Amino acid sequence: MAAELEQQGRHIIHMGIGEPDFTAAPSVVEAATRAMADGKMQYTSATGIPALREAIAAHYQSMYGLRIAPSRIVVTAGASAALLLACATLVERDAEVLMPDPSYPCNRHFVAAFEGRATMIPSGPEQRFQLSDEMVRGYWTSATRGILLASPSNPTGTSIAHDELGKIVATVREKGGFTIVDEIYQGLTYDATPFSALSLGDDIIVINSFSKYFNMTGWRLGWLVVPDGLVAQIEKLAQNLFICASSIAQHAGVACFSPVSIAIYEERKAEFKRRRDYIVPALRELGFKVPVTPDGAFYVYADCSALSDDADRLTIDILNEVGVVLVPGLDFGPSTARQYIRVSYATSLENLHEAVARLKKFFATHA
Ligand SMILES: Cc1ncc(COP(=O)(O)O)c(C=O)c1O
Repeated sequence: MAAELEQQGRHIIHMGIGEPDFTAAPSVVEAATRAMADGKMQYTSATGIPALREAIAAHYQSMYGLRIAPSRIVVTAGASAALLLACATLVERDAEVLMPDPSYPCNRHFVAAFEGRATMIPSGPEQRFQLSDEMVRGYWTSATRGILLASPSNPTGTSIAHDELGKIVATVREKGGFTIVDEIYQGLTYDATPFSALSLGDDIIVINSFSKYFNMTGWRLGWLVVPDGLVAQIEKLAQNLFICASSIAQHAGVACFSPVSIAIYEERKAEFKRRRDYIVPALRELGFKVPVTPDGAFYVYADCSALSDDADRLTIDILNEVGVVLVPGLDFGPSTARQYIRVSYATSLENLHEAVARLKKFFATHA
């Protein structure tokens, strides 16, 4: 609908998309150009080029003080392929996988692709829209095989607390299940010291990507860290399903971890934080409730129930009348569908100011 309005000449502010408005750092683009000039454009091994797996392992050491063997790191075509490989390996027919509702829409589809069933557990502000140990215990059945969560989360931008995740991991372990934690937004955490779920044990499967913190959505590059015992199986699947991730993207990916690149990405992260610090109070002033201040990613999950009883209708009316794209809660699961909208602040502060002015006008005429 937004694209149609743009074609008609309307100026639209996009706060719907889950994609950084920045692109890869110049040092990364240079590395890609160099890889092409040097002819590094052929298939790589299914698990990725050694230099990238080593660079990712070194990143865990410097960021979190964690020693992860490069052999446990599998380079993929984005977090999407990593999630697909994890589900292909762990989900069999009729297996139940617990996940919070709301969560990233594709997760339940990855599970369904392997004939498993996603159990969406309604989760609200009290649990920071994450799973709690109590929920995991309460919803676990004889058919449950594991859990899948993202921290920080899409659509809520909220992280799970370290001690709660620790309790969940212990429960899942006790039940002989698997824990998959999607850390795609882990590089974009603004308040508490970030931690990786890998700190809770070598049996956790962690997903990550170059799409968000490294601003490389279209390059299709990500990774997963798996227990030693799963590497061979994942490698076999990766080889058959994908052959490898883009070789040019992999060579560029190595340059992401250089001090020059990290300095650029840290500055951009600071910009995301500035935007969050502007948009959250601005939304509250407009009449939205933001019951948990998001601590990561670039999303605010805003309760619009004081302004409308139908989040779907509200986003459509806002788009048509004032040209701002927001996403209704429906995309992320049924429990918060009518009451919440997702606001992405992956756009300039200037656009955010303009969007707030437009929303003010919208609500003034709909009071
Ligand atoms: C939580 C989460 N996981 C995975 C993905 C997929 O990312 P990619 O395949 O680009 O790495 C996204 C994209 O928005 C996401 O929000």
